[in-house]
Amino acid sequence: MRYHALRPLLFRLDPESAHHRTLQLLALAGFSGVGRALLRRLFAYADPCLETEVFGLRFPNPVGLAAGYDKDGVALGGLAALGFGHLEAGTVTLAPQPGNPKPRVFREPESSALINSLGFPSQGAAAVLPRLQAARPTLGRAVLGVNLGKNKTTPLEQAAADYAQLVQRLGLAADYITINISSPNTAGLRDLQHRVYLEPLLRAVLAERDAHAPGCPLLVKIAPDLTLAEVDEVLDVALAVGVAGLIATNSLQSLPPRRPGGLTGPPLRARSTEIVRHLYRQTQGRLPLIAVGGIHDSAAALEKLQAGAGLVQLYTGLIYEGPALVGRLNRDLAAWLKQQGLTHISQAVGAAA
Ligand SMILES: Cc1cc2nc3c(=O)[nH]c(=O)nc-3n(C[C@H](O)[C@H](O)[C@H](O)COP(=O)(O)O)c2cc1C
Repeated sequence: MRYHALRPLLFRLDPESAHHRTLQLLALAGFSGVGRALLRRLFAYADPCLETEVFGLRFPNPVGLAAGYDKDGVALGGLAALGFGHLEAGTVTLAPQPGNPKPRVFREPESSALINSLGFPSQGAAAVLPRLQAARPTLGRAVLGVNLGKNKTTPLEQAAADYAQLVQRLGLAADYITINISSPNTAGLRDLQHRVYLEPLLRAVLAERDAHAPGCPLLVKIAPDLTLAEVDEVLDVALAVGVAGLIATNSLQSLPPRRPGGLTGPPLRARSTEIVRHLYRQTQGRLPLIAVGGIHDSAAALEKLQAGAGLVQLYTGLIYEGPALVGRLNRDLAAWLKQQGLTHISQAVGAAA
């Protein structure tokens, strides 16, 4: 059945329940090799022209799953079988925490957007670690990232210790690590993007990385509400301490008349692309970038690659367009490359920066 026929049924459920059921289904389908092979046959698309190397890792294609979809790493094998080139599990916090009171995820169907005020519900590092380890043989060639966040009760002054311990515990189980300092739903979190916090935090985290997961690329995920001057400040710190790349962007702080929370989907598309383009220009393409925000079709994915991203990620598009979106994006990108006479996806990166 086509997803658009199924969607009204799913959309009758409250968004968080619909999400949990989908995750359960993906976990079930992804549990066995047969289930994963079936999902692959139905959804995935592979083409050597989509393979790419970014921050030292090889990706089978540039389309990844953004953080927040599988926070606790329960359905990674099933998700990989949909055809993602990489998956970012998390956000994981050090201690388990429930997140904000429900309801906390809302659809805005007029604009194919979501607003969430989840506030990092997480089963915590100890629960997620064995899942990441167990998922490894089920991922095929997909790259596995883990996205880390501080606990709600950890004061900003002690945030670095949370992140450092998370890196120590989870670093070895992932191919790359993302430091999330940009969710709008944890009070004060985004202040960590300022140099006074960011520089010591990243230095502490990198030291821990060197000790416990040497060579594991460390990325920083930034907010779309930063001014370009603030983006430059983050970039300056990132280059000074030597992170492997930046992810732009997290969700946009929603303002009245919208409900409070993080806005995602098409209303975020232009702003996140603008930040990617700015970062690419500022660094002349020397710092790897992952673009995320409002990718619901291949035009949006291509826009972000051409603005300078080596990889893209999506979340909200999966809710509105369904699981076939992943294969469709890859198929369209491969067709576009051939039509342009290009042989490799990296040739599109930064072409319109
Ligand atoms: C319901 C929901 C939960 C999210 N949770 C997280 C999270 O835990 N950590 C994170 O870094 N980003 C989180 N995000 C942000 C996404 O990773 C992504 O940056 C954002 O949604 C923009 O991409 P999109 O427009 O494709 O959804 C979440 C997004 C949504 C919609």
